[in-house]
Amino acid sequence: MTAPTPAPTPAPTPAQLAAIPAERIPALLQAMPKAELHLHIEGSLEPERIFALAQRNGVSLPYPSVEALRAACAFTDLQSFLDIYYAGASVLLTEQDFHDMAWDYLIKAQADHVVHVEVFFDPQTHTARGVPFEVVIRGLKSACDRAERELGVSAALIMCFLRHLSGDDASRTLDEALPFREMFIGVGLDSSERGHPPEKFARVFARCRELGLHLVAHAGEEGPPAYIESALDVLRVERIDHGVRCLEDPALVARLARDGVPLTVCPLSNVKLCVFPDLAHHNLKALLAAGLKVTLNSDDPAYFGGYINQNYLDTFAALKLDVVAAYTLARNSLEASFVSEARKAAWVDDLNRVFRAFAQASAN
Ligand code: ADE
Ligand code: ZN
Repeated sequence: MTAPTPAPTPAPTPAQLAAIPAERIPALLQAMPKAELHLHIEGSLEPERIFALAQRNGVSLPYPSVEALRAACAFTDLQSFLDIYYAGASVLLTEQDFHDMAWDYLIKAQADHVVHVEVFFDPQTHTARGVPFEVVIRGLKSACDRAERELGVSAALIMCFLRHLSGDDASRTLDEALPFREMFIGVGLDSSERGHPPEKFARVFARCRELGLHLVAHAGEEGPPAYIESALDVLRVERIDHGVRCLEDPALVARLARDGVPLTVCPLSNVKLCVFPDLAHHNLKALLAAGLKVTLNSDDPAYFGGYINQNYLDTFAALKLDVVAAYTLARNSLEASFVSEARKAAWVDDLNRVFRAFAQASAN
């Protein structure tokens, strides 16, 4: 006879959420289980690791020291960041390098109570330097598998196409990736947004769709709301990465809300890349108020001043967000992930238990 499955933990009631005092919010943000859905693994390379890999591989860098690299990280826009980000990634040569980079990140994700992460990687940044696709994906995948076994963190890979390159280049990258189809769950679109509309990638995304891959794209970070619309209509993506500029188009906001399209928002990134002057002027609160399915993420944490919990902590402090927002954002992140409904339900159950425990402790 099989044991009966335990009844699911109900979501915390409004009264329970209201019982948790504001001073408990930082601890709650740390403790709550969450998914990270917008994380470029090359953007998790800390300067110390970049210099250690440069030495290990005999690669010379355009910066004399860790301090000089850190000092160069005063970005004015997306492109000024990407120039440094691609230089940092040039130290990655071997399968072990890719494994080590991902493992560094996954340990930090576990400490932040990330239960699931969908990791972006940029194969063209590496294959253009002569690093075989197979080296990149095997190194990353072995770290993801190890995280599941040793850390209890679920990790999946999303291959991004660089939008400053051509659609044909993206198609050739997809050809190279096909023998490893089972090692990644989806494709995305990143790099320089302005002047590179989603339409450039219509053909390759159509192929990916036929292959049953999940589809996401950066849109509306620096680019106009029209790019969000064409990412949905032309590329047929399931999530929008960033998407913060959607608020400039009320009809688009209504559509995103109606269809429950998740936005993977990255507040520290947006400030570092001058999309907003500071966190207090970030539009996250307005996005939530518009009923959008917002998630919080770190983007390129080594370059932008913090990992996922730092994004939560700093944003909640700057915008004075409440316990309801904490629950909503964590739950959105779990629900917007590309895992089975059963796995989502199990994590939502854990989330409900954490919030109920905080409410209970506050009542005592
Ligand atoms: N690649 C790494 N981080 C990115 C970002 N924030 N936008 C576009 N491409 C990226
Ligand atoms: Zn990004």
